[in-house]
Parts: sequence; C-alpha cells; structure tokens
Amino acid sequence: MITAKTALCGIFLHPAGHTRSPALHNAAYAALGLDAVYLAFDVVPGDLAAAIAGARAIGVRQLSISIPHKEAVFPLLDRVDETARAIGAVNTVVRDGDALVGSNTDWLGVARALERETALAGKTAVVLGAGGTARAALFALRQRGARAIVLNRTPGKAEALARELGAERAGALEELAAIPHDVLVNTTSVGLKSDASPVAAAALRAGSIVLDAVYDPLETRLLRDAAGRGARAISGKWMLIEQAREQLRAWSGENAPGSVMEAAFDRAS
Ligand code: ATR
Repeated sequence: MITAKTALCGIFLHPAGHTRSPALHNAAYAALGLDAVYLAFDVVPGDLAAAIAGARAIGVRQLSISIPHKEAVFPLLDRVDETARAIGAVNTVVRDGDALVGSNTDWLGVARALERETALAGKTAVVLGAGGTARAALFALRQRGARAIVLNRTPGKAEALARELGAERAGALEELAAIPHDVLVNTTSVGLKSDASPVAAAALRAGSIVLDAVYDPLETRLLRDAAGRGARAISGKWMLIEQAREQLRAWSGENAPGSVMEAAFDRAS
C-alpha cells in the first residue's frame, strides 16, 4: 500500500527500454514489507543535472544510475565513495540526511555471482573486455585476492586497464586458449541478442567457472559452450540480482531474499 511515508526509489537510464530493475526492487520490498516504491525514469543525458536536482528536492531515498549516466553523475553528487572513484562509475545514489552519496555495487554483483560457485582468493581469473563492466570485474577480483588477466578485442585498452586496476597481464581475446585459468568473466557485449561468443569453445577449460555479464538471451552461446566443455556456467542475471540486493541494503539496511529477486527477474524476462 502506498502511504504518505512511502519511500521513493528508482533508476535513471536512457533509453529506458526493458529494465528489470523495477521488478527486482519492488518484489524485494513486498517480500520484506518495506513501505517503498521503485520506478524507472527515462532521463536523456542533457536532463541528468535537472533530474538529480529534482530527486534531491523531492527526497528520493535511493537511485540506481545506469547507462549512460554512470560517469556524468559524479559532479552532481555531494559525496562519492572511494570504491566508485576507483571503478570510475557510480551505479548507486543514497540520500544521507540532505546529502546525495554515490557508490558502486556493480563490483559486488560480479564478486557475489562468482562466489555462488567458488571462493576467489588465490584463483586465476581472465576478464574479457575493457569497458565499464570490466573495470567493476577487475576491482572485484583484486578486492577478493584473485590474479587477474584482461583480454580485449583492442589489446591497447586492456593494457591501460591492467595498469590502472592491477591486472597481471593484458592481451587479445585469441590468447585465452594459451592461458590456464580457474575463472572466466565475459564483459564484452558479444552474445547480446545474438548467438555469437567472444572466444572459441576450444579455449574454455573443464572445471573452470564461466560468468557471462550478458543475460539476454539468458543462456548465451558462451555459457552453452562452457557447459559443453565441462565448465560451470553462471548466468549474468546473478550479477544484476546481487548488485540490486546491495543497493537495497545500502538505503534500507535490509537483506533481500535472492530467490524472490530471481523469481521477479524470470517473470520480467
Ligand atoms: P560496458 O560498459 O558494458 O562494459 P563498453 O564500455 O561499451 O560496455 O565495452 C564494450 C566491450 O565489448 C569492449 O571491451 C569492446 O571491445 P573494444 O574495446 O575492442 O571495443 C567489446 N566488444 C564490443 N563488440 C565486440 C566484438 N564484436 N568483438 C569483440 N569485442 C567486442
């Protein structure tokens, strides 16, 4: 029930398209009995400053910041925490008194999704891609004490990222076959709404863990190939669910049941 005290939360993104975040957060609020509502707001880049000012004025409790606003939002906030600065992206804004505070839960989405299958300390992990999601993945691996290698279609970008976020080595996607690894994380967009894979099936290793940030389709070519090679496949939906759980915890202190959010994700698919 909506009351005079209902907390307003939401996501700023553009285009709004088919975001599952409202389904995840509202299902968790219902399960937890939280008096809150979460809406999607299609904010064009030129309106971000006005939208943040509006959110401030009406007392929005928590905002999720998605593409294309994760970097542009920095100067519009009162504070941004160290983690978001290191990753170079804010995906979460929480109101603290009168202040809007930026943070990042994307890296925890990567860490917790992988930790469904394995502990990360001491493991060797390969990250495919050198965009924003790769930054969150590399931060997660460093935080958890794993050795990281970053491979990208454009190796120069991988080298820059490796230096900045402490990966041991960088290279081209084709190098995967020659690199022994325990964990593989795809952060490229290859496989999104297509049946392509960023790497050859023969480069995947039996007994490894493969996480694909792409979750549309839910079972990507990479995850099918991984299962076929005897690797354990983790759907990118767990990255979305785990980062959302952290966002909910950040403003409410509550621990949302993952199973409720998974069911909401599946219903929204
Ligand atoms: P995000 O912020 O979601 O990580 P991004 O910054 O647009 O997305 O990064 C996209 C990643 O997918 C990049 O690593 C990109 O490789 P390049 O740096 O060489 O552009 C990778 N990518 C996109 N299309 C690709 C393709 N067809 N083959 C291989 N890699 C691709």
